[in-house]
Amino acid sequence: MARSEKVRSGTLGRLFNYANNGITLTGIVIATVAALTIIIFMLAGLAGGFHNPYIGIFAFLVLPAVFVVGLLIIPVGMWRRRRQLIAEGTSEADMARYPRLDFNDPHLRRIGFTVLALTAFNAILLGSTSYLAVEEMDTVKFCGTTCHTVMQPEYTAYQESPHSRVRCVQCHIGPGASWFVRSKVDGLRQVWKTAWGTYDRPIETPIHNLRPARQTCEQCHWPIKHHGDKLKVFARFSEDEANTPSFTAMLIKTGGGSLDLGRHGGIHWWHIYSDNKIRYVASDKRRQKIAWVELTMPSGEVRRYSRKGTKLPPLDQLEAKARVMDCIDCHNRPTHLFENPDYALDDVLMNHPEIQALPYFKKVALKIVTADYPSHDGGVASVQQGIVSYYKTQYPQMWATKKDLIDRAASWAAEVYGRTFFPEMKTDWKTHPNNIGHEDFPGCWRCHDDEMSTADGRHTIPQDCDTCHVFLAEDSQTPPKFAQLMQ
Ligand code: HEC
Ligand code: HEC
Ligand code: HEC
Ligand code: HEC
Ligand code: HEC
Repeated sequence: MARSEKVRSGTLGRLFNYANNGITLTGIVIATVAALTIIIFMLAGLAGGFHNPYIGIFAFLVLPAVFVVGLLIIPVGMWRRRRQLIAEGTSEADMARYPRLDFNDPHLRRIGFTVLALTAFNAILLGSTSYLAVEEMDTVKFCGTTCHTVMQPEYTAYQESPHSRVRCVQCHIGPGASWFVRSKVDGLRQVWKTAWGTYDRPIETPIHNLRPARQTCEQCHWPIKHHGDKLKVFARFSEDEANTPSFTAMLIKTGGGSLDLGRHGGIHWWHIYSDNKIRYVASDKRRQKIAWVELTMPSGEVRRYSRKGTKLPPLDQLEAKARVMDCIDCHNRPTHLFENPDYALDDVLMNHPEIQALPYFKKVALKIVTADYPSHDGGVASVQQGIVSYYKTQYPQMWATKKDLIDRAASWAAEVYGRTFFPEMKTDWKTHPNNIGHEDFPGCWRCHDDEMSTADGRHTIPQDCDTCHVFLAEDSQTPPKFAQLMQ
């Protein structure tokens, strides 16, 4: 029994004995170091915040994991040590002696309080770090820059958009616990794909499991209130020497309202208000080819339109596949708009009228911006150089006197390239259809093409030009008076 004497009696002795092994000591050291580091990061974060998302990931995702691993190692070592003691012949009676919980014993009291205090401390530490971890994952920086290349197209477009102050998660996840959990589970799959480089290039849209837009967009937009028309002026510059402009102005019948409010009508009212419900079935993944549409009106009247000359499955199968139209069936690029470079250059010419004096700017810039470049950053640099060298060689006198202007114009064109082409992700303005309008993609005309009618032929989804907008000016050489007011 010489060995068993080593096993000091009493609980404290037991714990000390069990803990007295390499594994447990390593666990204690790991947990303590991780805990102290987390505290330091938390203090640093409070003092100034982190500007690098990777520090956040390390401090609030990796370190807590290390801490937990440390904590888990401790009992493993103790368990092994206990078995070892048994193997060494420590008597069963000794081993079976459970601690006598007598809190009058000052020893035990001290242990009890220490364990209690440590547990509370650990809980607070873990609780607050996981809270911070979640906060970290919700920041725009985390979503937009953690997997830099993958998110570069969306993040770049986002920063230029009307929603650049809206956090990614407000549209992509929205409030409430269940979507939060779903997004984190989905996130694991994405992290995996990023780690192995097996993500899609480009990232496909539509996102088929996106939360219904009405639960996200309507945190901020109250659609019933969008009534009235929206004035939009399109300035287009031609590819001649003078970059001749032409202007089209229209009132878009955005509409809104509801039967309850009295005033109602227009685009919003027809497609998304509780008064009307539209469902449709698309035959392709990208929802660009639509063959069946159903409108349920406030009166209860149901109209089912189908495309001329298509053979459709029976109604119950169509209904099972039907998607209820919501905001993103039209506004699918409210924030990640990869603009047609043609129009983006028009905006440059409109916003910086002094550039209009550069001969053939529109033509040359469009050609250079839309050429193929192997990388995004390389492309930005090549566009800048390409435009400068064009004017340097073709218009040396102008280069001599207007070097600054040419440099600036070249960098705006380079910015247009930077916003619209992402070779590493095989993404550009053509890869993601925009469903508003009908110029570059079918958009509204997916349904409004005069080809979709009810079986009795009484109703057709209309394509007449004044269904959706009223022209105030069409290809006018001078800007309409009210357009000047907007400048
Ligand atoms: C105003 C709302 C909104 C915000 C803010 C927003 N997104 Fe999106 N995002 C969308 C919509 C809508 C889609 C298209 C969904 C569809 O068609 O199913 C989308 C699509 C995407 C896609 C799929 C690829 C693509 O280009 O369509 C990625 C990736 C993405 N967003 C990342 C981000 C990141 C990163 C942020 C923050 C930097 C962000 N989003 C902020 C609304 C938003
Ligand atoms: C957290 C608030 C918030 C959320 C969520 C949000 N938006 Fe917005 N949205 C805004 C604000 C603010 C503006 C006005 C920006 C400005 O004019 O500077 C805006 C502007 C817009 C515009 C007008 C853009 C323009 O070019 O004038 C559209 C369209 C729009 N949002 C659609 C959407 C859609 C679709 C969603 C959901 C996918 C959405 N928004 C989600 C706050 C939000
Ligand atoms: C049937 C297509 C369609 C649907 C569905 C739709 N919109 Fe619109 N919305 C438009 C059009 C068209 C405009 C006019 C703006 C334009 O062309 O740039 C517009 C304009 C807007 C504007 C800008 C209003 C202004 O006067 O500047 C906001 C904000 C907006 N929509 C939000 C929403 C939200 C939120 C939803 C979902 C609840 C939604 N829209 C659903 C087609 C649609
Ligand atoms: C999924 C199919 C679908 C898409 C996409 C769609 N619409 Fe519609 N729209 C309908 C249906 C169905 C009606 C009701 C037609 C009827 O009067 O029988 C309608 C009606 C309208 C009306 C009212 C017409 C009237 O009789 O006064 C307007 C305006 C309108 N749509 C504009 C738009 C615009 C703008 C877009 C694109 C931003 C768009 N729609 C996209 C299905 C669609
Ligand atoms: C179903 C609705 C709808 C119908 C029908 C429709 N449009 Fe449009 N159109 C739109 C919307 C919405 C926009 C605005 C797009 C935007 O905000 O960029 C637009 C924009 C335009 C523009 C400006 C685009 C640009 O980028 O220069 C022109 C031109 C135009 N429409 C011509 C027509 C003509 C011509 C017809 C008749 C054959 C017609 N539209 C029918 C919805 C419609």
